[in-house]
Amino acid sequence: MITAAAAAAGAAAAGPAYASTGGASGKERAVTEHAVKEHFGTLADGTKVDRWTIENGRTRLSVLSYGGVVQTLEIPDRHGHRANVSLGFADLDAYVASSPYFGALIGRYGNRIARGTFTLDGKAYQLPVNDGPNSLHGGDKGFDKRVWTVEPFRKGPDVGLTLRRVSPDGEMGYPGALTVRVDYTLTAAGDFRIDYEATTDKATVVNLTNHTYYNLAGEGSGSIYDHRLQIAASRYTPVDKTLIPTGELAKVAGTPFDFRRAKEIGRDIREAHQQVLYGQGIDHNFALDKGLTRRPEHIVTVTEPESGRVMKIATTEPGVQFYTGNFLTGTFAGTSGQVYRQGDGFCLETQHFPDSPNQPSFPSTVLRPGDTYRSTTVHSFSTR
Ligand code: GLA
Repeated sequence: MITAAAAAAGAAAAGPAYASTGGASGKERAVTEHAVKEHFGTLADGTKVDRWTIENGRTRLSVLSYGGVVQTLEIPDRHGHRANVSLGFADLDAYVASSPYFGALIGRYGNRIARGTFTLDGKAYQLPVNDGPNSLHGGDKGFDKRVWTVEPFRKGPDVGLTLRRVSPDGEMGYPGALTVRVDYTLTAAGDFRIDYEATTDKATVVNLTNHTYYNLAGEGSGSIYDHRLQIAASRYTPVDKTLIPTGELAKVAGTPFDFRRAKEIGRDIREAHQQVLYGQGIDHNFALDKGLTRRPEHIVTVTEPESGRVMKIATTEPGVQFYTGNFLTGTFAGTSGQVYRQGDGFCLETQHFPDSPNQPSFPSTVLRPGDTYRSTTVHSFSTR
């Protein structure tokens, strides 16, 4: 826990930088005024990975320099008891061995690009194919598997972490050197805000998101099917059997995809709808009614009835991938040692639509030199 006193003591002892303390685990530990940095593990090539922890309002967040991973996100229930609501692992090796993108920063392109290929300004590009015939989440070594530089900041009442990385020209087949900055902010109210920014030196495509799996009853506590979810989307993008959008914007009315009024996530998930069969549950992009906006607008409310925890999401993005943890198959033990099974977490990945580089009718994901890619998503927490 970062108390003001501990932080001040750390800062004073450290002078301008960090105070190294033994740390409870005997691991290397450093404290700034607003953040705690701990050694989390070492990659096979010798690169050290840190875990940063920040706290504001009633929210505590820990982030790994590996993959920009949201490792834990602790928020209170209606009695003020905090629980970690983000699925993940306790150690670095588990993240490296095989993580289904737990908590990860996704880039350069969130979700799928058909057959890993697209054409931009008349030139064809080939990306690594890592999901059946398609390229998923930036290829086999996307942003989720890179080490980011992390710096803590304070802006008025907000505290946060800035993650930076330059993705070299041609990385994972994408054109242009992409300079990326992502701010993870905790506001004084305990809201979790993510601001993405990117610039390029050649025309390219970009679609950044965060892949946190939530369980508002607490990570490792079982199924999320009882959570009540509302999504402000009248349409979604149906997919083929490889989960590539067909290009159609189908109405949610009369389908399991109708979350315009709050309903339990599990209510229609066993309906034999062709799209549910393709996704093995819900794994679909919802076309938000508000569309692409300059400022984040409210799109989602999720409520967990037992704990009373409520998460609201606002975003600038035109879409959100709602994924019901269909590929969690009991093969991972999570942060608290419990095994994750299908439906034990859900993702709401704010984004441009999947396969946009091949779908001229979808909002464009092209970024050109001189322009700045910007995207913001805010998660607000309350109880009822
Ligand atoms: C996204 C995809 C899913 C799945 C998960 C990660 O949500 O749409 O199909 O790949 O990421 O397992």
